[in-house]
Amino acid sequence: MLNEREAESCYLGQFIPVQYHHNMLMDANRMDNFKAAIQRQVFEGAKVLELGGGTGVLSWFAAHTASKVYCVEFNPDMVAEARRLLAKNRYGEKVEVIHADAFEYLPPEPVDVVICEMIHVGMLREKQVEMIESFKKRYAEKFGGTMPVFIPEAILMAVQPLQQTYDFWGYQAPIIQFLQPGVFSADTRELGQPALYSVIDFCQPNELTIQWTGQIPVEQTGTLTALRFVTKNVLAVVMETSSTIDWLNHYMCIPVPEPLEVKAGDVIEISFHYRTGAPISALQHTLQVQVHAANRAKERNLSLVHG
Ligand SMILES: C[S@@+](CC[C@H](N)C(=O)[O-])C[C@H]1O[C@@H](n2cnc3c(N)ncnc32)[C@H](O)[C@@H]1O
Repeated sequence: MLNEREAESCYLGQFIPVQYHHNMLMDANRMDNFKAAIQRQVFEGAKVLELGGGTGVLSWFAAHTASKVYCVEFNPDMVAEARRLLAKNRYGEKVEVIHADAFEYLPPEPVDVVICEMIHVGMLREKQVEMIESFKKRYAEKFGGTMPVFIPEAILMAVQPLQQTYDFWGYQAPIIQFLQPGVFSADTRELGQPALYSVIDFCQPNELTIQWTGQIPVEQTGTLTALRFVTKNVLAVVMETSSTIDWLNHYMCIPVPEPLEVKAGDVIEISFHYRTGAPISALQHTLQVQVHAANRAKERNLSLVHG
């Protein structure tokens, strides 16, 4: 159960100030893949709804082929920005920006595609899962059971043990990090493979609680200093080529409180649980790690419960 302060920061985690939208617009990995998925799923004349429109850019991608786009945004600053920016862009007139809480809003007519990007690593902080589950229930009550296509369609989450160096100009600072995927760093060594801990398929009903206990074999001898949380968003499934259009979030690396020596052949057991949309600390507070040494006599336990 969240206390009032946690609940408030969790709620505020939803509302991204205007200046951060520039970072989102500059994130080529995010933009290219959303554009490709929207181009693929939004057919000529389609009706589209975007939940949490921000600057309106994803609605604008949709407006190239859609006949109408409903773009819902709760932050009044962003509503004004989206209207201002869309007015400068061809097809912008097809996007109606609605100032409303997307947890309550429903379009006046059925839609073919729903776009929602309220995504944070691990489905923490932002309300993607709650939002889609709430939408599906309310939409079915108003328009019946046939659901629109969702962008993203699904989310895959994994965790991986790392030896991460935390040396900042000689200052040792084990601290939570968000790191660019696919970028080699001498500060990072992967000690084992990522283990899939949750799959969210937006076509199906989804639980709002993520609970996992799993084991990861150690492949490289080293020092376990961090866990990397990986979140891959399947924006669209391309049946013809049996492929997907994906967006991989920045990796979230959470340091373990005390470094732990591990050897190839050992097994790391990890468990945690949290509610989607909760602060990152909710995951940290429940995180537990045990190392089962290859030689059973050396079994060690490490509980990562903070405070
Ligand atoms: C991560 S941003 C994405 C913005 C934009 N869709 C894009 O991709 O650039 C999420 C947006 O959802 C909005 N938002 C969050 N909760 C909302 C709610 N309950 N109703 C409507 N908008 C919401 C935020 O204000 C923010 O602009």
